[in-house]
Amino acid sequence: MPRILSGIKPTGKPHLGNFFGMMKPAIEWQEKGEAFYFIADYHALTTVHDPAALREYTRGVALDFLACGLDPSRAVLWKQSDVPEVCELTWLLSCVTPMPMLENCHAYKDHLAKEKTPSHALFAYPELMAADILMFDSNVVPVGRDQKQHVEVTRDIAGIFNRTFKKDVFVIPEASILPTVATIPGLDGQKMSKSYGNTIELFEEEKALKKKVMGIITDSTPVEAPKDPSNSSIVGLYKLVASEADVAQIEADFRAGGFGYGDFKKRLLGALWEYFAPQRVRRAELAEDPGYIDRVLADGAKRARAVAVKTMARVRESVGLR
Ligand code: TRP
Repeated sequence: MPRILSGIKPTGKPHLGNFFGMMKPAIEWQEKGEAFYFIADYHALTTVHDPAALREYTRGVALDFLACGLDPSRAVLWKQSDVPEVCELTWLLSCVTPMPMLENCHAYKDHLAKEKTPSHALFAYPELMAADILMFDSNVVPVGRDQKQHVEVTRDIAGIFNRTFKKDVFVIPEASILPTVATIPGLDGQKMSKSYGNTIELFEEEKALKKKVMGIITDSTPVEAPKDPSNSSIVGLYKLVASEADVAQIEADFRAGGFGYGDFKKRLLGALWEYFAPQRVRRAELAEDPGYIDRVLADGAKRARAVAVKTMARVRESVGLR
């Protein structure tokens, strides 16, 4: 049975990029192995500095994940900070990590390119992520494309650690990235990302969703003219939530001309609303019992921590701390 692990950062409400990049594959993986998923609140603290907001986002992510089908009887779901052993492991890993390996990471480089001053935590972000992954002897890490480099760094760090201490202390993990959902387009055509302010949340209110979808940026091709479906963010999003037949239809209508972008946006809106309808019902049910999320997370923390304590005993031994 493979061990599957992934994390999601509570920096806001989950959006379609989070869902199709990580949550949906993670939910599918829970059938195929031992699934370990956590809410990366330590990672969120690199950018969220409002304690009430962090608490709200953390619970919100848990609720959305459960509403979408995460099954706590199959998968372990916990809050990263409930297993503080990862911070100790981060330090031990950092003792064998060459600085240039982290200096080379996109998130850090982008920050420097924007002439912002990165915090030490932003620089060390991949190290904590490596600790998350290696702590649980993970074989498979389902992530969005933007996290691929972080998993590669994790593999490198695990290799260096094993060679330095001449033992197979860590399992070398593998990223799993679905090619069909490698890039989710946002409202402005760029990749969907909170930092671009171009996201659609999974559980938008109907009105807000309509406003966002109708506001998707398009070119000024007139209604009657044929349009290219291949680089349209409307089609890119539609493909994620509509049936094959409906996708073929919208592509044909793009090419044929005679349909305006407003029409296509309405189809997308309808498909989005329908796709998330069962999850919306489930979410409302779960929200009726406010203690439910706490119970799931507390149980998850117990199970995750039991694994972490064992790993740390092995790691401490291997480096000479005991
Ligand atoms: N960095 C990931 C993201 O921003 C979240 C994350 C933290 C993660 N630790 C992880 C993902 C470990 C996979 C494995 O999406």
